[in-house]
Amino acid sequence: QVQRNLAAETVLITAGGTREPIDPVRFLGNRSSGKMGYALAAAAQRRGARVILVTAPTALATPEGCEVVRVTTAAEMQAAVLAHLPEATAVIKAAAVADFRMKQAAATKLERKGSLTLELEPTDDIVRSVVEARRPGTLVIAFAAEMGRNLERAREKLLRKGADAIVVNDVAVEGLGFDSDRNAATLLTRVQSIDLPESSKRELAERILDEMLRLRALVPRT
Ligand code: PMT
Repeated sequence: QVQRNLAAETVLITAGGTREPIDPVRFLGNRSSGKMGYALAAAAQRRGARVILVTAPTALATPEGCEVVRVTTAAEMQAAVLAHLPEATAVIKAAAVADFRMKQAAATKLERKGSLTLELEPTDDIVRSVVEARRPGTLVIAFAAEMGRNLERAREKLLRKGADAIVVNDVAVEGLGFDSDRNAATLLTRVQSIDLPESSKRELAERILDEMLRLRALVPRT
């Protein structure tokens, strides 16, 4: 029996890896499959939430009952997230967002001759822009992909981005993290560190939503 304990929430979830065009046929991407974000979307929907899933390209089937917004680049993801933010009572940022994009993508296919140097510029930080634009009471849960159990760096990310919590996963462990069906994490809030041991992404999603409810008990919805 699923507890429909998220019926009062509209959860905006991002998933997948954004793609930044290099030229009309090539892009800069990453190994995110979208599985973590889609597992969160499906679990939140089962618990009665309205779910808005902003997704970069994935090979996954759309989770039932979720409103899906498809995007490709980090800038498109940011625009979609900010457009839907006023409806959201919670935001979970499981997407792997590009940190850099081409300063100027080539208008025609780059030819293969000699070496090639790409000039990149940083993308906007979506979590930060969400924290700045949110209504009070909108919970923001970020993710951190770290090499090794680097909780110090993740804590610094949590504070710098101003999120309510950050889910830290070690993406250097074989069989966990990117593209796998399993994951393990530590959820950091400003005052707590909660170990979320290895499980399926489906189970981990449920644990993250349990912690989101715990945060909700401290922060009234507006
Ligand atoms: O999709 P899967 O194959 O299931 O893999 C899941 C996952 C490993 C991608 C996921 O669990 C995960 O860790 N997602 C976050 C990946 C990431 O971009 O981490 P980061 O440490 O580089 O960024 C920290 C946070 O800032 C993230 O919430 C990210 O969405 C956000 N960010 C990053 C860059 C940017 N320009 N804007 C952002 O908002």
